[in-house]
Amino acid sequence: MKVLIVYDSVFGNTEKIAQVIGNAMGSQAEVNILRVGNVKQENLRGLDVLIVGSPTRAFKPTKEILNFLNGFPKNGLKGVKVAAFDTRFTMSAIEESRVLPFLVRLFGYAAKPISNRLKKKGGELIISPEGFFVEGVEGPLKEGEIERAASWAKEIVKGKK
Ligand SMILES: Cc1cc2nc3c(=O)[nH]c(=O)nc-3n(C[C@H](O)[C@H](O)[C@H](O)COP(=O)(O)O)c2cc1C
Repeated sequence: MKVLIVYDSVFGNTEKIAQVIGNAMGSQAEVNILRVGNVKQENLRGLDVLIVGSPTRAFKPTKEILNFLNGFPKNGLKGVKVAAFDTRFTMSAIEESRVLPFLVRLFGYAAKPISNRLKKKGGELIISPEGFFVEGVEGPLKEGEIERAASWAKEIVKGKK
């Protein structure tokens, strides 16, 4: 099983989750983990699974992740299993703000639009999009999120076999 994990990260939290996911997929998978700017055409050849992760920025994935996803031709992900994740504010951080709860309900987070684009390009979604919480803006990751990311990755491996 050939897996590519593509991520963007400003403060390192999404990068950390990408690495945890990659490690948790274990020896059953040949895993490549790349920052979005470093993905080359050859990295996309012969993929079984493509996992894409981004920090949520203004309710969306980063511009780099959006450009990466928009760069696939129509049906460019046909035959590829896909999954999406993001990192995001904790619920308590959101609830501290007066306007954020409303805006978050309206506009959501990065993982869903990532998974929608992956599907639009022909990918087969193998697990629900997932979000991982960071403390404040810069992190660190909330306690327990590393373990949750590892279980999410194991679900992907189980589903793929
Ligand atoms: C400019 C900016 C906008 C952000 N917008 C959101 C947002 O809309 N929703 C959210 O949950 N978190 C938001 N965050 C928090 C980021 O999701 C958080 O910084 C990110 O998960 C950290 O991941 P990284 O270390 O990989 O960059 C925002 C942070 C910044 C700096």
